[in-house]
Amino acid sequence: MSENILEVRHLKKYFPTKRGLLHAVDDVNFSIKKGTTMGLVGESGCGKSTVGRLILRLTEATDGEILFYDDDIRKYDREKMRHTRRRLQIVFQDPYASLDGRKSIFESIAEPLQVQKIYQNKKEMEEKVYELMATAGLARRLANSYPHELDGGRRQRVGIARALALNPDFLVLDEPVSALDVSIQAQVLNLMEQLQEQMGLTYLFISHDLSVVKHISDEIAVMYLGQIVEKAECKDLFKYPSHPYTQALLSAVPIPSIDYHVDRIVLEGDVPSPINPSPGCRFAGRCRFCKEKCRHETPELKDIGNGHMVACHFVGEF
Ligand SMILES: Nc1ncnc2c1ncn2[C@@H]1O[C@H](COP(=O)(O)OP(=O)(O)O)[C@@H](O)[C@H]1O
Ligand SMILES: [Mg+2]
Repeated sequence: MSENILEVRHLKKYFPTKRGLLHAVDDVNFSIKKGTTMGLVGESGCGKSTVGRLILRLTEATDGEILFYDDDIRKYDREKMRHTRRRLQIVFQDPYASLDGRKSIFESIAEPLQVQKIYQNKKEMEEKVYELMATAGLARRLANSYPHELDGGRRQRVGIARALALNPDFLVLDEPVSALDVSIQAQVLNLMEQLQEQMGLTYLFISHDLSVVKHISDEIAVMYLGQIVEKAECKDLFKYPSHPYTQALLSAVPIPSIDYHVDRIVLEGDVPSPINPSPGCRFAGRCRFCKEKCRHETPELKDIGNGHMVACHFVGEF
């Protein structure tokens, strides 16, 4: 047994569209150790949510392996997947959209327990729902409230309570605080960290915002147009950002505590289309250091030391 709870290998998702194949996720590889957090960052549309959905098999991959405790869950049949899904859960950005507005908070949190038929005894189930509410920091008096009566932070706590209902091992957190006010973001992030410690949870934390993942992540993977362009331990990524795209992202992070200081790099050019991408580095058209080779040859992720992986032909040369 490896200590990895999750590993994806050569993960691909191509969506057929009228204009051709959209390469939403294009040969993504990473592994996450038990009890740790991997941050997955990149601009909107780069494929982060698709990676999350593929891992839970909410969307079926085009190709690749998804190893959960060293076992490829893509090979599981419906029944086996139904069982495994208890252990793999997701928290979405917009709890309002992911909650049923006609269900009370109590009913929403009870739902996964009912679907999986965990409790025969009604009293036990009720106790479990109240326990989950307490765990997520929701006052008991809110049990009979409806989603529209709660603020964004509390709604997200309901989403978290639901995700925890079946005692999962692994959570995909897909922009869990992006819709919240800044003051509430920190509270929800703290809750996620506490829960991780108490329950030994493992997270894939998706965000378009590097400053959000900075404190919670052990490792960070930076995605650009369906591919990982840089992956490193969190502190190394902030200290030695090595892909021109990561450097540009970091230069835009508006927090003073950042270790890396550059003038703001403005990304020029448009994000190219993910439909039928041409060979070469996908960042070439926007890269300050682009050379001829970059337009023809796709750079592989290379280890530049200490497991710090960078996909750039000229890493270290600029
Ligand atoms: N069901 C779908 N059908 C077609 N294209 C999709 C579908 N879901 C996502 N995409 C496309 O895949 C790409 C990645 O989307 P997504 O994973 O949502 O990115 P992110 O979460 O990083 O913003 C985008 O170009 C998006 O338009
Ligand atoms: Mg998304």
